[in-house]
Amino acid sequence: MSTNVQKFPNQFPIPLDPRFPAHSGSPRGKVGPVSVRRPVRGVSPEVAKVGLSEICLSYRTQSGERLLALDHINLQVHAGEFVCIVGPSGCGKSTLLHLVAGLHQQTSGQILVDGKPVQGPGTDRIMIFQEHGLFPWLTVGQNVEFGMKMKGVPKAERKEKTHYYLRLVHLAKFEKSYIHQLSGGMRQRVAIARALATEPDVLLMDEPFAALDAQTRDLLHDELERIWSETGRTIIFVTHNVREAIRLGDRVILMTFRPGRVKSEFPVDLPRPRHLEDPTVARAAREIDRKSVV
Ligand SMILES: Nc1ncnc2c1ncn2[C@@H]1O[C@H](COP(=O)(O)OP(=O)(O)OP(=O)(O)O)[C@@H](O)[C@H]1O
Ligand SMILES: [Mg+2]
Repeated sequence: MSTNVQKFPNQFPIPLDPRFPAHSGSPRGKVGPVSVRRPVRGVSPEVAKVGLSEICLSYRTQSGERLLALDHINLQVHAGEFVCIVGPSGCGKSTLLHLVAGLHQQTSGQILVDGKPVQGPGTDRIMIFQEHGLFPWLTVGQNVEFGMKMKGVPKAERKEKTHYYLRLVHLAKFEKSYIHQLSGGMRQRVAIARALATEPDVLLMDEPFAALDAQTRDLLHDELERIWSETGRTIIFVTHNVREAIRLGDRVILMTFRPGRVKSEFPVDLPRPRHLEDPTVARAAREIDRKSVV
């Protein structure tokens, strides 16, 4: 299948009982005060961070028929790249992220992370959903700590990283608050801090800001961009909003409606930081919108 290229300027298992002690895995080495791990930039420059080749996925519907959701998807995402995926509702965007997260298995084709086949969820990848999935019985700090606890990170390191990542999302003062005491935007920032604290190489974000008001979303765009540039993570970000994709992405992937295919790719060369209302962003978004109906 050919793809047009156009150019213009772990999820966490839910704790059944919050009183249960967390799993203890192999503890990581104790770290100094500022030892936040930056991802290793690819196994070699030629190996994509995330590589999808010829991915097909069909679901079985209630009536027993097979529905082809993804049809021969090919996509290479480089280490440290911010890739946005856009396309109409039902085109398979979430399905694609689930496959990379290892939450579903493709019907055919191969997904590689750092050149190794994905065989299930891993701590090198994490999903952030539109519904943030925070635990209401835990404080903000405990929510951020939770993923690290599941990874077996020692307590002192957990505390240190919780503080670091809460500062990163400007929520240091809310460490002891409960989730119901926060606004929607603050909750989403806690979810981002929790995901980042497990230090995955790849963040998979499924319309994380869709439910937020415009002002909060603009602020979170700025913060996500800053965090991305400070931490060097690889981000695959799904959105319905083409302008949001241009605002954030190094590259925008446009998918077709059912079956989901990669219709076009648009490298975004506009200087950062960008803003949703920038005329250049609007122009680029119109170009993609035009392309999506052709
Ligand atoms: N568990 C499932 N069983 C059967 N069909 C499914 C299942 N999950 C998704 N689908 C179908 O697969 C297709 C792709 O769904 P998916 O949720 O990936 O789309 P999407 O692009 O994320 O849509 P949206 O933008 O609305 O979130 C849809 O036609 C959907 O009905
Ligand atoms: Mg979806």
